[in-house]
Amino acid sequence: MNMKELIQKYDVAGPRYTSYPTVPAWNISEFNLQDWQIDIKNTFKEDQSIGIYIHLPYCESLCTFCACHKHITINHKVEEPYISALLKEWQLYLSLFTRKPILKELHLGGGTPSFFSPKQLKKLISGILDTVTIPDIHHYGFEGHPMNTSEEHLQTLYDLGFNRVSFGVQDYDSKVQKAIHRVQPFEKVKEVTELARRIGYTSISHDLVYGLPFQTPASIKETVSKTLSLNPDRLSFYSYAHVPWIKGNGQRGFSEDDLPLGNNKRALYELGKELFELAGYQEVGMDHFAKPSDSLFKAREQRELHRNFMGYTTESAKNLIGLGVSSIGNGNRSYAQNDKNLKSYLQKLENGQWPVIKGHLLTDREVLTRDIIEDLMCHFQTDKLIEYSTYDADIYHKLEGFKVDGLMTFDNQIAKVNEKGRAFVRNIAMLFDSHLNESEKKPIFSRTI
Ligand SMILES: C[S@@+](CC[C@H](N)C(=O)[O-])C[C@H]1O[C@@H](n2cnc3c(N)ncnc32)[C@H](O)[C@@H]1O
Ligand code: SF4
Repeated sequence: MNMKELIQKYDVAGPRYTSYPTVPAWNISEFNLQDWQIDIKNTFKEDQSIGIYIHLPYCESLCTFCACHKHITINHKVEEPYISALLKEWQLYLSLFTRKPILKELHLGGGTPSFFSPKQLKKLISGILDTVTIPDIHHYGFEGHPMNTSEEHLQTLYDLGFNRVSFGVQDYDSKVQKAIHRVQPFEKVKEVTELARRIGYTSISHDLVYGLPFQTPASIKETVSKTLSLNPDRLSFYSYAHVPWIKGNGQRGFSEDDLPLGNNKRALYELGKELFELAGYQEVGMDHFAKPSDSLFKAREQRELHRNFMGYTTESAKNLIGLGVSSIGNGNRSYAQNDKNLKSYLQKLENGQWPVIKGHLLTDREVLTRDIIEDLMCHFQTDKLIEYSTYDADIYHKLEGFKVDGLMTFDNQIAKVNEKGRAFVRNIAMLFDSHLNESEKKPIFSRTI
């Protein structure tokens, strides 16, 4: 079967697996706050190191392609109460820890972290850092919007220990930029990238998206070439997730006829990949590229790459604390998500209450499946087939189709996805997902290709 036919065959809706089980499959009725707190405590007993993800939801202007959880406002008075709420939430978590946690990984995501003033960010970060141990090797990063990330932002966060920044680039073509309501000149991206490098950031990443309205091979070539001229250490090359049914009107600024789909969309990815590889970047996991000098690449080489709600990471703290509206965290055997409603998130913290609204406790089978899916997504292989077959003896039979299509090999214990199969790793992961039958019926995931 050639690539065109394979794409037609496997271009189905499917999860991105930043968690397993995926959020729609969580067993919410069996979850309660106390179980979550117990799992965080138990996990901490095993491993004192933690990661923190902080969601900073505000943006000044709406990009019509955006699938993130954001709140659009130009009123900067919202900063202060939000930062206070985050610090209160952190105090709630601190009360669970019997010793000072070691903060290995810290990520500010959004929305737009650089919407907040450097002063407010400093208050937040130093409020947290004063209560933890900072190990010599730590990875602290933030998502910066090139249009509002200032030298003061970069310097303030660097002085607090930040060493990574990712800039939202998306696409440089003017027609595409207009359609997604994100007009952003190359010069601006150049300026912030060079500033970050001068200040001392060791990992600078650019986010690009393929599958956006009006993109063509020629426009992708131009965007990639401009990106390469700035020499970022890493690249995210995301598949455009078209999910207007959950994102309301935000994604309706263009017509679905304007979107490249199926083979046309995949061709854009293949073109970008070819150009990145020619320039010395290597594909790390799904949708990510890194230079051999970047820690993400080194982690893949040493099989230390991980995947969680922050995407691909080089650290593996078992407790990941999610702070902020809509944030998701995990212990070793549980997930929890905060209130997605900004007003009630703030209100709960004002009242000293935990803002967690739902979660999931993993069964033994789910723990194994989570590990297998992470293996596949990070390393394109897993050595846990025998263990898994105790739950599903039919797994070998299910994998057979991918073997026949030349996408993978496997024996009793080890399954390996080959180069050609990488584009379909989500489809392969889906075979292990015992929840899919219930949730796949609803159109809540984006397409896999
Ligand atoms: C929170 S934003 C980055 C920070 C900042 N708000 C900005 O836009 O520059 C995270 C990234 O998610 C990606 N993203 C957002 N919506 C997406 C979608 N529908 N499909 C694929 N990627 C998307 C974009 O590349 C974006 O830069
Ligand atoms: S892409 Fe970034 S700036 Fe645009 S709406 Fe989404 S989070 Fe906000």
